Amino acid sequence: MFDYYRLAGPLLRQVAAETAHGLTIRLLKTGLVPPQPRVEHPSLTVRLWDLTFPNPVGLAAGFDKNAEVPDAMLRQGFGFVETGTVTPRPQPGNPKPRMFRLPEDNAVINRMGFNNQGLDAVCRRLAARRRNGRRPVGIVGANLGKNKDTVDAAADYELGAARLAPLADYLVINVSSPNTPGLRALQSRRELEGLVARTRAAVDKAAPAERQPPLLLKIAPDLTEADLADIAAVATAGSLDGLIVSNTTVARPASLRSPRAGEGGGLSGAPLFEPSTRVLRRMYQLTRGKVPLIGAGGIASGLDAYGKIRAGATLVQVYSALVYHGTALVGRINRELIDLLHRDGFASVADAVGADHREVRR
Ligand SMILES: Cc1cc2nc3c(=O)[nH]c(=O)nc-3n(C[C@H](O)[C@H](O)[C@H](O)COP(=O)(O)O)c2cc1C
Repeated sequence: MFDYYRLAGPLLRQVAAETAHGLTIRLLKTGLVPPQPRVEHPSLTVRLWDLTFPNPVGLAAGFDKNAEVPDAMLRQGFGFVETGTVTPRPQPGNPKPRMFRLPEDNAVINRMGFNNQGLDAVCRRLAARRRNGRRPVGIVGANLGKNKDTVDAAADYELGAARLAPLADYLVINVSSPNTPGLRALQSRRELEGLVARTRAAVDKAAPAERQPPLLLKIAPDLTEADLADIAAVATAGSLDGLIVSNTTVARPASLRSPRAGEGGGLSGAPLFEPSTRVLRRMYQLTRGKVPLIGAGGIASGLDAYGKIRAGATLVQVYSALVYHGTALVGRINRELIDLLHRDGFASVADAVGADHREVRR
């Protein structure tokens, strides 16, 4: 198998992180990046929300903010791709530099601030995938945000949901980026109930009942127990179809060794694995396993993905580890996952979801 990253990786690591990201997107757009063979196995298939995921490993939001390369990334072996975060109007984001590698920690810090081309551009690209009204192969979700200067935040999510409900396989309300002032306050119960209700109403209006995409909420790893209980209450009340746990953290674990550790923004990658999995595990308990969870944060191996699944995730997502390993990692995670499921006697991912909780109870 040809791993383009063996060739491109050392070159990409010579330039600034965001420059390397831009070059990667351009390379993927040319169609010259060879596809990775998709790892297929019955145990990897996940059926959820009327969708069939060929494997549980997705691309997390923030890599393809403008929906430029969802199909190219599906061809790299992902089971699904989340585009965005997209805001109604285009916006430049924070001043550069705003993305930093922490190689000593296998981590990344970013304070991008929702730089993106806006809803028009993203909708145009996703609509092009659905020409002739045909549903394209491969699951592509859309992650929604608010513009920095918008006062009525819910109005921005309504707009995003209305435009993207007919074009995306699932929608995500992102209230957990640490880089938009005031955004994370939307995770409080009072704010959240109104926000979710209004976004749900926009989805209902925009798409016929039988074609409505599931609506998810992406949360921060830095929430208190009371916040988590509030979010679980909203989720179990039926207004959400799932939760993504989690976004980047504003915490800076004392274990960080990289000189860049003091940069402002959200930390992701290996140091996020433990805190984000702890929140995932807690959320599975609080929702009594009734709300599908997507686990993100620090996944760099099949064992990491398996850990999230056993803690309660039905699907997982990866971003930061791609910076260090390229997309060959996706196949590796899936192959390792097949072995781990088999080792522990699980016929499928679904059988292993939340397994840690069952063992504790026994
Ligand atoms: C450079 C960068 C940009 C990101 N942008 C977004 C974003 O726009 N929206 C979002 O919901 N999450 C964003 N994230 C967070 C990721 O989607 C993911 O939740 C987080 O990085 C944890 O996964 P990881 O440890 O595998 O990277 C971004 C992460 C990085 C590293």
